[in-house]
Amino acid sequence: MAMINYSTILFPLLAAIMIYSVSANFHQDVEITWGDGRGQITNNGDLLTLSLDKSSGSGFQSKNEYLFGKIDMQIKLVAGNSAGTVTAYYLKSPGSTWDEIDFEFLGNLSGDPYTLHTNVFTQGKGDREQQFKLWFDPTIDFHTYSILWNPQRIIFLVDGIPIRVFKNNEKSGVGYPTSQPMKIYSSLWEADDWATQGGRVKIDWSNAPFSASYRSFNDQSACSRTSNATWVACDANKDSWMWTSLNNHQYGQMKWVQDEFMIYNYCTDYKRFPQGLAKECNL
Ligand SMILES: *[C@@H]1O[C@H](CO)[C@@H](O)[C@H](O)[C@H]1NC(C)=O
Ligand SMILES: *[C@@H]1O[C@H](CO)[C@@H](O)[C@H](O)[C@H]1NC(C)=O
Repeated sequence: MAMINYSTILFPLLAAIMIYSVSANFHQDVEITWGDGRGQITNNGDLLTLSLDKSSGSGFQSKNEYLFGKIDMQIKLVAGNSAGTVTAYYLKSPGSTWDEIDFEFLGNLSGDPYTLHTNVFTQGKGDREQQFKLWFDPTIDFHTYSILWNPQRIIFLVDGIPIRVFKNNEKSGVGYPTSQPMKIYSSLWEADDWATQGGRVKIDWSNAPFSASYRSFNDQSACSRTSNATWVACDANKDSWMWTSLNNHQYGQMKWVQDEFMIYNYCTDYKRFPQGLAKECNL
């Protein structure tokens, strides 16, 4: 009898704790860091909205820092005429020799496609841009943008489809982020001096405020810590994201994206790098 009573009382309690810890809640996971009220968390922590008007953009950052992980975020981008706006979503460590893994969404005129810009910085060195068009309109619905970062490779995914892999080539002298924990940052801001069609198309402020929305943040498969901790706790067993590489099916998917939707690749830009392409481009 005692056992039965014990388990009936304990079970709902455990279930509640588990649900609490696995379901994303922006109040718990992030802080709005700038924008003077233009960034807002609503729906009991389920939804986050950033906005931009003529006076300011807005942004948030994660409370935790990550050292490897598979981190998902669903984002719905600025709709309509979003020319001149940039929505950035990235991981970055502090300091002058920082590491950074970037997604940036460059807005466009109504009906013209967004550009998804990606980059990887290691020890403060970037210049590793690859840009893509998307195979859907990213302003109608939420889509999942993921960064899988483990000691062997960084995989950028859109709705679970790999679009880019940056491998650990440290053995060949190429930098790789292996030791600096990074926070997640996101912001919506004005960049009409360069973002849309090379800066030729300016923001039309009559469409302001512009807004982008976020939901379903998932950092459960990651090594993380609060900024003041010295250790990192991982949720990774031997079959997990920590050791993942692409299977043949995923290579096929990535090839499809790169063949059909890639619009810029630093590894083929001989004009920009007359001294020679980055080492990893030939590995
Ligand atoms: C915007 O649309 C134009 C025309 O289709 C395209 O050339 C450009 O790459 C698009 N993206 C940006 C960010 O300018
Ligand atoms: C560490 O930071 C978290 C959140 O930022 C805080 O709740 C906690 O009290 C801090 N712990 C110590 C030991 O300072």
